Formats: sequence, structure tokens, C-alpha cells
Amino acid sequence: MKLSTISSLLLSGASCVVAHPTKRAAPKITDIDILQYALTLEHLEDKFYREGLANFTLKHFEEAGFNETFYNNIKEVSYDETTHVSFLTTALKGLNATPVAECTYAFGVTDVASFIATASILEGVGVSAYLGAAASIVDKAYLTAAGSILTVESRHSAYLRAAQKQSPFPQAFDAPLDLDQVFTLASPFIKSCPESNGKLPVKAFPGLMVDAASKDIKTNATIALNLQQPIDSHEKLYAAWIAVTGPTFTPATLVGGNKIETTVPEGFHGQTYVLITKDNEKVSDDCVAAGPAIVEITGAQGSP
Ligand SMILES: *[C@@H]1O[C@H](CO)[C@@H](O)[C@H](O)[C@H]1NC(C)=O
Ligand SMILES: *[C@@H]1O[C@H](CO)[C@@H](O)[C@H](O)[C@H]1NC(C)=O
Ligand SMILES: *[C@@H]1O[C@H](CO)[C@@H](O)[C@H](O)[C@H]1NC(C)=O
Repeated sequence: MKLSTISSLLLSGASCVVAHPTKRAAPKITDIDILQYALTLEHLEDKFYREGLANFTLKHFEEAGFNETFYNNIKEVSYDETTHVSFLTTALKGLNATPVAECTYAFGVTDVASFIATASILEGVGVSAYLGAAASIVDKAYLTAAGSILTVESRHSAYLRAAQKQSPFPQAFDAPLDLDQVFTLASPFIKSCPESNGKLPVKAFPGLMVDAASKDIKTNATIALNLQQPIDSHEKLYAAWIAVTGPTFTPATLVGGNKIETTVPEGFHGQTYVLITKDNEKVSDDCVAAGPAIVEITGAQGSP
């Protein structure tokens, strides 16, 4: 083999690293950063429920097929989120930090059905956010506090999923998301934040959405994902499906400048997260081209 061939093979194998020669170590994340990040998400959820309950009355819920028990439980969920906000705010003040304030949001909710569908997605993302941040928390007291919020968010998620006739616990493990992945999912809802909030050590990747034509998505289905920004890439692309045991990679094909096709691998059910990456060995923020997208995969693990 000629030397030029070998070096070009090496180059193509290491394309993500070559594209980022000044790859820095990830900035050190402190417990204050994590509490601010959690508070950012809790503010979003808190405002979301308060706004939804101001938009829609019990009568609207009943017309949408939900009864009074359900309506009262949504009020309870809203109360939980408000309580999480005040808990995290107090914790940050106790550390002499200035807690981030509520931002302005655009939730795009049009009716009770879209309110509940969005609520369910937000709760699922909340679970994955706490799960993904847990390992970075240094002080064990905060880890327990974060865990006690996570378990409540996961019950909210199960309740909302069941109310929409989705499996409440579609698989044995929930998927952890890192800060940048969660911020990518949250940022389309955030219109602007007070200047005084400062900047969190997080960034959003280009957005990725399941194409509306891909419906009732099951294992092995070919799905289309829409890119918010076109990828100009001659490199190989992969879809990385996030799981606690590590990602599963499937080949991803660019179809035109802003659409990608890939196949749903086995072992993923319920609210699932997929990224487009240039690496098929690990998911590193340097190699992410877009996403995550949220893909609802029907059917439950263990069911026929
Ligand atoms: C409340 O209604 C406004 C106006 O229709 C809408 O823009 C917003 O997304 C709704 N929010 C929720 C959470 O229902
Ligand atoms: C609402 O529906 C649930 C589930 O079917 C039921 O357990 C509950 O009693 C109902 N509540 C009311 C007020 O009818
Ligand atoms: C998915 O495809 C693989 C490979 O063709 C096959 O073995 C498996 O049974 C399929 N799974 C489902 C759930 O269809």
C-alpha cells in the first residue's frame, strides 16, 4: 500500500478530530452550573404548565376527552414544577449564586391535545436531563436532591404517556442526555432571557426533527429527519441512538441538502433521542452535526 493511501485512510478515520485541531478539554462544570442548568429547565416547565392552565379550563380538558381527575393532576404537576423552581432558587442563594430568572418562551401550543403532548415530551427530556447530569454532581447532597426530582418527573412522564395511550414505561432503562443535547431540545422554546442570567456553559447543536411523513415509527422502520441547517458533507454520516449502555449507530444518508434517512435499530422504544454524527464509535460533542431529534417509537420492550 502506498504511503499516500495510508495517510488518507488515517485522515478519513480521524475526520472529526482533524476538523477540530484545537480540541479543548471540556470546561469544568461546577455544581452551581448544574443547579443553574436545572433551574433553567424547571423555569421552562413551570411557566409551561402555568400558561397552559391559564389557557385551558376544565371544560376545555373535558371537551378534549380528559376528565376532572386528570385536570386536577395536571394542576398538581404544575405545583410540583413551581416547587422545584423555589427549591433550586433557594439552593443557589445558599451558595451565594444569583439564581437564573424565568425567560420568555414560545411553546406553540394550540389546544389541550398539543398542551398534553408537549408536556409529555418535556417531562421525558427532564428525566433524561437529570439522569445525564447526575454523574457530574460533586456534592452528594445535591445528587440526592436531584434524584428526588428525577423520580417525580418520571412519574409525571408515565402519567402523561398513559393518558395519551402510550406505554407509560416503554423500556427498562431511560436514556441520559448531556447538557448540550438537552439545551438543543430546550432552546427552540426559549425566546429571550434576562441579561442578568449570564451564560451557562452549554451550546445548542443545529436542530433535527422527525419528518411529519414518518408516522407510527417502529423498530427497523426507515425514517426521515429534517435538518434545520443543511450539512455540506462528503464525510460519512451516522445516526447515533442514545442509550445508557452507549449509543447504537445506524448509517445515515443525506437525501438532498436538508433531509436524512436512517433506520430505527432494535432495542429502542418510547421517547428516543437520535443525533447525526460524523463518528460511529462514540458520541462526542465535536462530532455532532445535528440533533438530537425526539423520535417516539411505538411498541414496548417485552411486549409481543
Ligand atoms: C397559551 O396560548 C398562547 C396563545 O394561543 C399560545 O401561544 C401558547 O403556546 C399557549 N401555551 C400553553 C402552554 O398552552
Ligand atoms: C377519570 O378517569 C379515571 C380513569 O378512567 C378514573 O379513575 C377517575 O375516577 C375519573 N374521574 C372522574 C372525576 O370521573
Ligand atoms: C429487524 O430486522 C432484523 C434484521 O433483518 C430482524 O432480525 C429483526 O427480527 C427485525 N426486528 C423487528 C422487531 O422487526
